Amino acid sequence: MTACAIEAQGLQRRYGEVVAVDGLDLEIAEGEFFGLLGPNGSGKTTTIHMLATLVRPSAGSARVAGFDVRADAVGVRGRIGLVFQESALDRTLSVAENLRFAGRLYGLTGGEIERRAKALLELFGIADKFHAPTGSLSGGQRRALDIIRGVIHEPRVLFLDEPTIGLDIPVRRRIWRFIEGLRQRNRMTVLLTTHYLEEADACERVAFIRKGRLVTQGAPRALVENLGRHVVEFESADVEALLAQAQPTLGRGLKEGNTALFLHPHEDTAPLARLQEELGDLATAMRVRRPNLNDVFLWVHAGADLPGPRP
Ligand SMILES: Nc1ncnc2c1ncn2[C@@H]1O[C@H](COP(=O)(O)OP(=O)(O)OP(=O)(O)O)[C@@H](O)[C@H]1O
Ligand SMILES: [Mg+2]
Repeated sequence: MTACAIEAQGLQRRYGEVVAVDGLDLEIAEGEFFGLLGPNGSGKTTTIHMLATLVRPSAGSARVAGFDVRADAVGVRGRIGLVFQESALDRTLSVAENLRFAGRLYGLTGGEIERRAKALLELFGIADKFHAPTGSLSGGQRRALDIIRGVIHEPRVLFLDEPTIGLDIPVRRRIWRFIEGLRQRNRMTVLLTTHYLEEADACERVAFIRKGRLVTQGAPRALVENLGRHVVEFESADVEALLAQAQPTLGRGLKEGNTALFLHPHEDTAPLARLQEELGDLATAMRVRRPNLNDVFLWVHAGADLPGPRP
């Protein structure tokens, strides 16, 4: 059996009346690439901050790399890397100084820091910025530096909180290739939050949370398969009326702009053509397509019941 790199039981965090994380259970294996997904404000960052010992849980327990986040925060901190959703760099320091500062915190020697920093900057194509003020970097370069800062000590467990937001595709690819390399080399565990579908799709498993609670988790492909065979989209000038009229046939649908979305679990699409006729002018267009992970996200976001695994 593979050891657990991250495990949480009933993890909870309150901010006054707000329950940011509401009894979360997680089991993430050593070396696993795990995605924590959910709408804005669903508790992803708060969860990462509890696991990284930056925020104290209000209830529940968690272990990271074998250490209890409450009882042994020092043990946890020595084994994790964290790339924050908001940049954690000091803009008044140079690139080299930021990395030296991070490296020292993890007990690296000056020589080790310099060697690793230069290699990592090289990898991201910003080796010439070694002595540059951090404030002079472009947004993407700064994000790359944030990631370098989070991995310079080669952590056992890496938390990535929306690491590639706002980055162009070549830089995102470079970052993912690099992280993949670290995973292969060190069996590093990665807990990622992202709103990018293709990044979530690349995870071995993802968990969807809503209002701090786990809604569903599993391999992306399995979650998509659970939605059924088809997603049906109707365009309409009156989406609400269409949702109401189609509900008896297709179940509860979702409104997305001027489109109504429904799940159609069956392979047989003949009933859809009949329904389109019944809807008449209410449906100006119909599209039938295979579901994807974004649909899982939409259904979770809407608070709609997800279909369970099919027998
Ligand atoms: N320091 C804080 N004080 C008060 N409320 C907070 C604090 N941090 C988070 N919250 C609240 O907890 C909830 C979860 O926030 P969190 O940042 O964990 O969400 P998230 O899933 O990371 O969202 P996003 O996708 O926007 O980054 C929100 O309602 C937020 O307002
Ligand atoms: Mg967040």
